[in-house]
Amino acid sequence: SFETSLRPQTLNQYIGQDKVKENLAVFIKAAKLRQETLDHVLLYGPPGLGKTTLASIIANEMGVNIRTTAGPAIERPGDLAAILTALEPGDVLFIDEIHRLTRSIEEVLYPAMEDFCLDIVIGKGPSARSVRLDLPPFTLVGATTRAGSLSAPLRDRFGVHSRLEYYNSKQLKEIVIRTAEVLDVEIDSQAAAEIASRSRGTPRIANRLLKRVRDFAQVRGDGRIDEEIALKSLDLLQVDRLGLDHIDHKLLRGIIEKFRGGPVGLETIAATIGEEAHTIEDVYEPYLLQIGFLQRTPRGRLVTDLAYRHLGLEVPGG
Ligand code: ADE
Repeated sequence: SFETSLRPQTLNQYIGQDKVKENLAVFIKAAKLRQETLDHVLLYGPPGLGKTTLASIIANEMGVNIRTTAGPAIERPGDLAAILTALEPGDVLFIDEIHRLTRSIEEVLYPAMEDFCLDIVIGKGPSARSVRLDLPPFTLVGATTRAGSLSAPLRDRFGVHSRLEYYNSKQLKEIVIRTAEVLDVEIDSQAAAEIASRSRGTPRIANRLLKRVRDFAQVRGDGRIDEEIALKSLDLLQVDRLGLDHIDHKLLRGIIEKFRGGPVGLETIAATIGEEAHTIEDVYEPYLLQIGFLQRTPRGRLVTDLAYRHLGLEVPGG
């Protein structure tokens, strides 16, 4: 589809994550040389950095099909058994949000990952017996925003652990330029740099902002994206100079105004600003920590002087 074609399809087309890419290229090449299935791969890191994209690139580079599902979608052991038995030899099974699998599903997954087999219990009570079913060899690619929430036995069954990092502005600018090419829209260097610097280190955000700026350029301009229309659009989109949006602002201001800047517990912040604690922890907080606007202390979250200055507020006691 059109959306899919926005995504890079090979490791060479994929920009950034150089260490992850370099390692994966070796593991993929080695598996192919030995005519083996690639070992199971765990991809972890904040949302929007390209875990799903990498999973499909892995399948593409291995020359196999990808089957995609997500932790919360697998409700019973039978759901997983149905997926596993439908795989073809060498296929990639991609499980997004793999930390959300239940214990009983994980237990089906262990022998599947380790020995490519499935233990099925037939019947109930004293006449119940266990039957072992062979599966085609496959590669599990698991993705999670929180590697720490994975059970140790599951984590240990992945032969490759790859942590994705936030992208720098140069890499994001390259991604914006590449996506603009795919979308067939003209963009100048300054405009691409402006979108990149407001994307919170995240390609998904960069591509989303690019599409919205393109809308403004088309309707309010001549269709080309230059610095002027980029700046105007980004202000209208309420994305500030560092890429913080209204939820980031609500979070920081909430802590400052209701808790004198903290420290304050995550659940308390969540209740105050009306966002899920998990969403704050997985989506908003990681970038604010990364740029030093927020600190995690044993007593809770603390807004830093840097954040006060960015918001144009007086630094307390400073
Ligand atoms: N589009 C989204 N993420 C990308 C990446 N890492 N490289 C190239 N294009 C992308």
